[in-house]
Amino acid sequence: MYVDKKMCRFHGGRYSENIKIDFSTPINPIGPPKFLEDLIREAVEKRLYMLYPDYEYKTLREAVSEFYNLNPEHIVLINGVAEGINLILTCLRTRDLIVFEPTFGEYRCLTDILDINLRSIPYLEREDFYYIDEDSFKRSIRDVDKEGIVLLSNPNNPTGAYVDKDLMSNIINLSKNMTVIIDEAFIDLCEKCSSVLELVKEFDNLVVLRSLTKTFSVPGLRIGFIYTENKKILETIDLCRQPWNINSITSYVFSHVLKEYKKDLYEYISSSRKIIEIEREFLYNSFRDLGIKVYRSYAPFLLLRHFKYKAEDVIKILNNHGIHVRDASKYPFLTPYHIRVSVRLREDNEYLVKVYKESGIR
Ligand SMILES: Cc1ncc(COP(=O)(O)O)c(C=O)c1O
Repeated sequence: MYVDKKMCRFHGGRYSENIKIDFSTPINPIGPPKFLEDLIREAVEKRLYMLYPDYEYKTLREAVSEFYNLNPEHIVLINGVAEGINLILTCLRTRDLIVFEPTFGEYRCLTDILDINLRSIPYLEREDFYYIDEDSFKRSIRDVDKEGIVLLSNPNNPTGAYVDKDLMSNIINLSKNMTVIIDEAFIDLCEKCSSVLELVKEFDNLVVLRSLTKTFSVPGLRIGFIYTENKKILETIDLCRQPWNINSITSYVFSHVLKEYKKDLYEYISSSRKIIEIEREFLYNSFRDLGIKVYRSYAPFLLLRHFKYKAEDVIKILNNHGIHVRDASKYPFLTPYHIRVSVRLREDNEYLVKVYKESGIR
């Protein structure tokens, strides 16, 4: 299947100045808590940008591990999940990469450069949702050797599909002689999802990627972590990352906020999940009532397929009303009629639906 190389590095969040409402970036729509923003200001006032951060990130690692109830020895901090993916593909030196598509474009970006053989398994579509077929997966991995990597985002971008714990355990079990990377960048924001973090004890071949930038709505600060009990992988990734991969402002902010505002942040996450669930349902029903195909999602966004209008035309119309959405037409297995819409707060969501209605987008 042909995929334009530039399209794997095509993401939301880029638009002209006349855009007032961004539905293209998939993050927590609540925005960062005020106390987190106060810590950013504090870090700037302290002129921390003049210092190198501690390259072992001892305090930050402790704060992250306490917040997520994990062993700090099994964590490598990363500059967002995007860096984690990059490090894993460049440093673990796989020959075969197995992905389920459509998915986050970065997974396939490095495959040509690193001469990795990409095996793309399509998500299957039924009624209004996407799912993974275990048999297709079994067939795809039949002749993959020990160095193979299975990379799966859960919930998935852009379909919003979610793999439950039972199927996830089967996938990991079937891949025992490979490394399984589960990208849980959106899982903190999902009310009904369970993380595989606790399966790490059971499976030495399991690596979990988590993002804090999406959870706390600060994608500009860039922070996440890799979690695994596999010593060789931990050591390799830790050595491969550049020493100061989390900047000193981000390191300061998260070392403090995760410790000092732990309870507030748990509440923030819990209410974010609830709001996202309610708003996603509102958007789902509104688009369905307009006769647009909309898929069930566990993530803070929805995938839409129009019947009459191509993505490029929809984007032009919406841009004229100050709205930007993510063109999803170039993802493998999607069509020129697909776009992705992030879940925002009610006033913005209502405005989006109103523009759709008044412009007659179908
Ligand atoms: C599946 C997936 N993983 C990772 C990322 C990037 O996460 P981060 O901001 O933590 O690098 C994205 C961004 O949209 C994504 O969709």
